[in-house]
Amino acid sequence: MSQSIIELRNVNIYQSQSLILSDVNISIDKGEFVYLVGKTGSGKSSLLKTLYGDLELTHGEGWVVGHNLRKLTWQTVPFLRRNLGVVFQDFQLLTDRNVNENLKFVLKATGWKDEKLMDERISDVLDKVNLKNKGFKMPFELSGGEQQRIDIARALLNSPKLILADEPTGNLDPETSDEIMQLLFHISRDFDTCIVMATHDYMVINKFPARTIKTEKGKVWDNASISMS
Ligand SMILES: Nc1ncnc2c1ncn2[C@@H]1O[C@H](COP(=O)(O)OP(=O)(O)O)[C@@H](O)[C@H]1O
Ligand SMILES: [Mg+2]
Repeated sequence: MSQSIIELRNVNIYQSQSLILSDVNISIDKGEFVYLVGKTGSGKSSLLKTLYGDLELTHGEGWVVGHNLRKLTWQTVPFLRRNLGVVFQDFQLLTDRNVNENLKFVLKATGWKDEKLMDERISDVLDKVNLKNKGFKMPFELSGGEQQRIDIARALLNSPKLILADEPTGNLDPETSDEIMQLLFHISRDFDTCIVMATHDYMVINKFPARTIKTEKGKVWDNASISMS
């Protein structure tokens, strides 16, 4: 295996019985920032779901953070999930508890036990997303941008080398969306975290350029391989 954190070879992706993407070949290295672009319905979320083990890989070969996607079972998916972070368009925080308690809930669910270590980790990730003093806020007291930052903090809890983000700016106004993009680029650069972000917002891509992989007409097109040929 190479340095790649994501490797897909001759992969076909299905939803129910329908073929959504065929002959997908992708190789993404440690620390890279990559956009996944394409129209609504073109298969971006299906591709991300395959990468985090929500859609079973049945055709082709795939490795994500060292896990062989063909060998995943319901018992081993949690181990893959601990090695990557997932950020959604609108992650629902548990409304009956504050930010600290929300994050602690996730830590406990992924095997953490020591209260002091958990508190330190929570304070550390809140610091990384610039929300250090918001731990005692209830979800309804946070703005949309702050909630999205908490979602990113949640994805960082287990120090993953890979974050998969599915339209994380989809519900945000342009200014807040810029702040989230700056945060994601900062995380990618300063913590050597690979980020694969699905979006159909070309304004974002133009403003924050990076390698772009496109889903279109049932195929995946990678501008990195186009520019090299
Ligand atoms: N759970 C599902 N069951 C069946 N078909 C689905 C499911 N989820 C998505 N699809 C179909 O797969 C195709 C790709 O969808 P999706 O991956 O969500 O695209 P995107 O994220 O680019 O909008 C669409 O035609 C969609 O209708
Ligand atoms: Mg989608």
